[in-house]
Amino acid sequence: MIQSGPLFPTLLKALGDPTRLRVLGLLELEELSVGDLARCLGMAQSRVSNHLRVLREAGLLIERHEGTSTYLRSALQGERGADAYAVRVWSGLREGLATLPEAQADRVRLADLCARRRAESSLFFDRLAGAWDEIGAHFSSGQARERAAACLLPPGLVLADLGCGTGYFGRSLLGLAGHLILVDQSQGMLDRAAERLSSARGGTRLDLRRGELDRLPILDDELDGAVAGLVLHHLESPGEALAEMRRTVRPGGCAVVVELAPHRETWCREALGDRHLGLEPRDVTAAFRRAGFEEIRLEELEDRYRPRPPGGGEPADLALYTVRGRVPYLRPSVPRSHPST
Ligand SMILES: C[S@@+](CC[C@H](N)C(=O)[O-])C[C@H]1O[C@@H](n2cnc3c(N)ncnc32)[C@H](O)[C@@H]1O
Repeated sequence: MIQSGPLFPTLLKALGDPTRLRVLGLLELEELSVGDLARCLGMAQSRVSNHLRVLREAGLLIERHEGTSTYLRSALQGERGADAYAVRVWSGLREGLATLPEAQADRVRLADLCARRRAESSLFFDRLAGAWDEIGAHFSSGQARERAAACLLPPGLVLADLGCGTGYFGRSLLGLAGHLILVDQSQGMLDRAAERLSSARGGTRLDLRRGELDRLPILDDELDGAVAGLVLHHLESPGEALAEMRRTVRPGGCAVVVELAPHRETWCREALGDRHLGLEPRDVTAAFRRAGFEEIRLEELEDRYRPRPPGGGEPADLALYTVRGRVPYLRPSVPRSHPST
């Protein structure tokens, strides 16, 4: 439908000038300031401002204000709210504009301007690189990056923290899991974990289950992934816990343990309830293989566990590693145990 009424002459006037068409041509490629436009058009800013006033009156500009600067773009890009008749007229005029030598020169100057901006920006950050570790560290909690990292994972993952204790590991799973199952034999530990995690749980559903690692209160294939952090060395038979992790993690999912390398801090038996003074990484890797995991990876960590002996004294300095494995997609048919519910 052809536009009528008082806006029609305003539109005709706005689109009836080659310089204003050149302005619109530039503003549909990039958002620009008046100064940028003047540079691309090779004109004084005052002349450009006069043309912008006419385009503004016809409703052909979108403006964004940032501090004292104003940035402009064309309102004729088929966005919601753009005048449909004006958009149609513009699309016809745009073809003709592309053949104007002045408009072609505008595009070359715009490309130069953008290339210079990119080069200036990368030089600016080159200069800042040495200081960025300090500047980029000022966050109140650091949660922003963790949350962003969590967005890379499929939503709604079902994860388990096995032998969760007071929920140290569980806390770092909160952003990642849609449903977090916390298992521990000790009700006291589960209560503390509930206290620690409830306030910070965000969108994660918490599910506390009392039970044993060699008979997990979890269904076959219920989990997308499971972690047992600093737990296997408490168990008589770590292999049975790994078999249970294999049963409860779905095909394609991963299980990971964090463990202590062998050490000589004998006080850990009585003070921390350790049955083994650390575990040999190769034994844990072999136990993953026997349990039926594949893609098994051992990683030594820089982090150290530094518990203090009772009654004071120097803290221990214990080496840590992780072993992770993936449950194969095609499972051999093995008889399965059933969880206690
Ligand atoms: C050293 S804490 C580690 C807790 C937590 N994963 C962490 O890293 O802070 C060991 C936890 O494993 C639990 N645990 C030990 N043996 C277990 C078993 N057989 N079944 C279930 N939980 C067990 C203990 O109750 C304790 O909470």
